[in-house]
Formats: sequence, structure tokens, C-alpha cells
Amino acid sequence: MTRTGLLGQLDACAAFLRGKRDRVPAVGLVLGSGLGAFAERLKNRLAIPYEEIPHFPVPSGVVGHAGELVLGDVDSTPVAVLSGRVHFYEGRPMTDVVFPARALARLGVGAVVLTNAAGGVRRTFKPGDLMLLTDHINAFGTNPLIGPNEDSLGARFPDMSRVYDPALRKLAKDTARSLRIPLREGVYLGNSGPSYETPAEIRAYRTIGADAVGMSTVPEAIALSHTGVRVLGISTITNMAAGILPKPLDHSEVLATTKKVGDRFVRLLTALVPKIGRTLRK
Ligand code: HPA
Repeated sequence: MTRTGLLGQLDACAAFLRGKRDRVPAVGLVLGSGLGAFAERLKNRLAIPYEEIPHFPVPSGVVGHAGELVLGDVDSTPVAVLSGRVHFYEGRPMTDVVFPARALARLGVGAVVLTNAAGGVRRTFKPGDLMLLTDHINAFGTNPLIGPNEDSLGARFPDMSRVYDPALRKLAKDTARSLRIPLREGVYLGNSGPSYETPAEIRAYRTIGADAVGMSTVPEAIALSHTGVRVLGISTITNMAAGILPKPLDHSEVLATTKKVGDRFVRLLTALVPKIGRTLRK
């Protein structure tokens, strides 16, 4: 009997992707705005446009977001990389926003690295800093798990006390240290956008514990944690959040900063991913 609904869609998607390669990817990655360079340098690279993947949501074109799933290897670790993501601000339902992350889980990855561009809320951060997510605050005003629970994916009321895997975080910190790449740590607050925050919102977010702010990552992290996949999150601080500096925010600044630090980001991921692969095999 063929399954219908979400599970049927995820299975169709996973079966399609399994048919492309003989090895199942061990690690999944979601690349944020302007961070696509990592996917371009994979070994044994096979790029599949989202349009060709059954049931896959296709992002509406924002400059800096491509839309392809790239299979390949980092050293000997097989990976599946999502280059371009669907954002809630596009007006898409949360089920679409988290579908690609769930598809990676269904495909069989043991861990997913979520990356994003974010505004620095903590005053000591600087544009160009990389920040490891220790936790998040969901300020989307909704939750991707709202609706009937798919019990085979996870619990109705899943624990969220350790969304960002402590062992993977340690691996990321050790890797950054050995490469002499400074890696900050902090709490990422996700909100819907597409307008940037007001200075008053940023002051409020700082008061409740945010170190960085962005428009993604939180929904995927919730959906992956729900389904038992280990998550690592890394932000590129592309700009200081609203009201910190006496200048308006601009998407071109976001892209210019990701471009500037792109090399460092790619070096970190290239060294880190095989270590994550080895950890998963243990
Ligand atoms: N706010 C929200 N999202 C962002 C920002 C910001 O300042 N910078 C990059 N993405």
C-alpha cells in the first residue's frame, strides 16, 4: 500500500534521492544566504534542482539563494547539501519551510548543520564573526509542529532542552580552534521577517537573551529535533542588528559580508564535516 500525506511525500522524496547515489548521505547541511560556495566545492558533486525532486518546495527567488540539493563527498563523508531554503516570509506554510529538513532526515542523515546569516544583537559581536548556536528563541509566533502529530516522526510534545547537540558543538569549537578561526557562541532568535527588526525590538530581544537575530533556522531545528536528528547551527554575523549603529540595514550588506567571510566558513565546514561523519559512525 502506498502511503499518503506527509510520510508518503517524504518517502517519495527519499526514494528519488537514494536512486541518485549508492551511498546514503551521513551529514546534511542547509546553507544560508550567500553561503553557497561550500556546495560548489564538493567532490563527486551531483546538483539536483529542487524542481526535479518529488514534493520539494521551491523557494521564490531572493538574490543569493539558489535552489538545488547537492549530493557529494567531503573527504570520505557523503553529504546532502541544501543550497537555498524556503523562508516563512515567502508566505509559505511552516510544513513547506521544514519539508527539506525532514526529507534529509528521511533520507537517513544522522546530523544536520544549519547555517544562516544573522544580525548581531550582542554589542561585542562584529560583522564577519561566526557564531555557534547554543540555543534558540522561537519568535516566529507559530511552530512547525502545529497540526496533527506524525507519531512515527516524533512525540506530540517533544523536549527542546538540547536542540543543538553538545558533542557536535564541542567538535565545532575544537575544529575552529585548530584552524585558528574565531568562533563565538550564543542564542539565535528567529523571527518571521521580511522586515528587519526595529531598534526597540532588538533591545527587547537582547533583554530576553538573544545574541543574534535572523529569519530562518528555528523551524528546521525544531522539526529535526522532533524527529531525533542531531543538529548543529552556525550563524555568520553579517551586520549589527537595528539601532546599534547609526545606519539603516540593507540586504546588500548581508550578502557582501557572507562573501567576505565565505572562505573561512567553507574551511571550517570542510574540516568539521568529516569529523561529524566519524562521530556518527562510532
Ligand atoms: N535581522 C534579521 N535577519 C537578518 C539580519 C538581521 O539583522 N541580518 C541577516 N539576516
